[in-house]
Amino acid sequence: MSKTRDLCWLKKRVHQPDISSYYIKNRRDSVVMKTIERELSLLFEDAEPSDDAKSPLVLSLTGDGTGDGYEIEKTEAGYAVTASSEKGLLYGVFGLHRILITKGRLPFKSQPDQSIRMINHWDNFDGSIERGYAGESIYYDRNHFRGDMEIVRSYARLLASTGINAVSVNNVNVHKKETFFIKSENLKEIRKIADVFSEYGIRTYLSINFAAPIVVGGLDTADPLLPEVAAWWEQVTADIYKEIPQFGGFIVKADSEGEPGPFTYDRTHEDGANMLARAIKPFGGIIIWRCFVYNCGQDWRDRSLDRARAAYDIFMAHDGKFEGNVILQIKNGPIDFQIREPNSPLFGALRKTNQILEFQITQEYTGHQVDICYLVPMWKETLDFDTCYGKDAFIKNEIKKNSPDPKRSGIAAVGSAGMDANWTGNKLAQANLYGYGRLVWDNSLSSEEIAREWVNLTFELTEDQASKIVDILTTSRGVYEDYTCPLAVGFMCRPNVHYGADIDGYEYDRWGTYHYADRNGVGRERSVARGTGYTRQYSDARFREYEDLSTCPDELLLFFHHVPYTHVLRSGKTVIQHIYDTHFAGAEKVEQYERTWESLEPFLDEESYTNVRDRIKKQKENAINWRDQINTYFYRKSGISDAHGRKIYD
Ligand code: GCU
Repeated sequence: MSKTRDLCWLKKRVHQPDISSYYIKNRRDSVVMKTIERELSLLFEDAEPSDDAKSPLVLSLTGDGTGDGYEIEKTEAGYAVTASSEKGLLYGVFGLHRILITKGRLPFKSQPDQSIRMINHWDNFDGSIERGYAGESIYYDRNHFRGDMEIVRSYARLLASTGINAVSVNNVNVHKKETFFIKSENLKEIRKIADVFSEYGIRTYLSINFAAPIVVGGLDTADPLLPEVAAWWEQVTADIYKEIPQFGGFIVKADSEGEPGPFTYDRTHEDGANMLARAIKPFGGIIIWRCFVYNCGQDWRDRSLDRARAAYDIFMAHDGKFEGNVILQIKNGPIDFQIREPNSPLFGALRKTNQILEFQITQEYTGHQVDICYLVPMWKETLDFDTCYGKDAFIKNEIKKNSPDPKRSGIAAVGSAGMDANWTGNKLAQANLYGYGRLVWDNSLSSEEIAREWVNLTFELTEDQASKIVDILTTSRGVYEDYTCPLAVGFMCRPNVHYGADIDGYEYDRWGTYHYADRNGVGRERSVARGTGYTRQYSDARFREYEDLSTCPDELLLFFHHVPYTHVLRSGKTVIQHIYDTHFAGAEKVEQYERTWESLEPFLDEESYTNVRDRIKKQKENAINWRDQINTYFYRKSGISDAHGRKIYD
């Protein structure tokens, strides 16, 4: 089965007969070095190993063995790749492959912008993947370890080629079966996975259940301040490191959406995280503690509660009080991976705590890998967001700067890969997996550059043809936003499924995600003056901007304010007209995507062509459905007709 898998952006081999041999200077015997040699034979058609320092391709290991950066130069004889560590050299080999295939510029020098570059898998032992849209888990199958290391190895190659250096391999919602992963009898299987990732310089982490001392430990409590609980975790970590010395650490979702946590014992998240951190510290491990904590049992009648406030309200008080090996992992937005949300106010505010920014590659709320939605532009907006406005306090820098140990900071994202032969379901969704790694390594790359790279590595097209796909990708986030999420009102989707329109689906539910549309207007009032006061969690400059209706950016307006349908946006349109216009435009754009894609049929391999064409057809139905439901809904509520007289069902 693994043989037929799509090798994605690594499938083109460099065919340059003049690179007939390679030589490695200061070669060491190690796992990663073997990988480098293996990759050279996989990626370069003609290169043979040689002892000749004058070979056309010379790889040199210099320096102290730390740091992931590399340099590539054109030399008289051919090419030189230099790095101070073996991991750096591996990244350099992938870099050279990319540059030669995409005809990139040399010399080229690169250092990763972020230290931790991670993917979190939400895979369950039964083989299902929470929010997975590309088939079953590559790790597990019906409560067994799948054991197909070739698939894991191919995946590790893909990740390492983009610069990823960490993975967690089980769901953050840790069910009973996965709680047992930390027990000795399962560690051999986890080790096999971790060993394959290690070949590619990737560290493996596990998600743990905070109540594990009860679920698998035979204790009757998981109270983090009790010595027997701490002792139990010390034993667990000792067992893990004995079997898996390169183990990264734990990721923890606590007191969230039904997961157990320290609140059960009237303890804080500081108590919980620090207890685990002390247990794992002797082995060099880290605790990644998620800030996705909120009350998911809200009463829609009670307007005083605001889910957006939760992470800041809970975690700010503990800034500076976490152990040095704790990292807080913060979702990009305050709610939950919507196509448009403001950035979390914790960025720039937490000043003395290691932190990781969390994105979502799997397209939970962004089209299920049926609808095309290239997410790099959205991630870039977050990285480039200035938390203080005018002070250059960009999130991409703040996460490092405000982490006492910048090596313990970085970016993580929920993964999108499964057993589907092309890994991501929709072939075009590969661009998100590729783009995530590339962007997290080099925060300065543009969304378009990344899209173009992926297209050039993946297809054989002329520049014109490639540009058509690049254009689909780079506009697709805006299009998805247009037909699903007017002015940042999220969650008008089908409950639990999170695909397709259901405007009131969450309106009277317990999840705290309401749009409050009535006959006069729509939106959640989060100002200090009239609402929940959420705006005050931002820096002064951002607070003023969001608080004031006249300066609040249009695209976030309904996240921060409840306004009449006749409210005039900064764009000059009324809210209701904006809703109509974007929904007509969004659906129309998907029809254009269909035509463009069909025009590319002669130039694409049949599998890729059909794969995307079938999905665009579904996307079109979806977009039309969203358009009609949203337009009808707001027409019925407001009684205001479309200024352009287009068809709105009443
Ligand atoms: C979302 C998602 C859940 C997931 C959660 C999380 O709410 O719908 O499936 O468990 O995020 O990030 O923990």
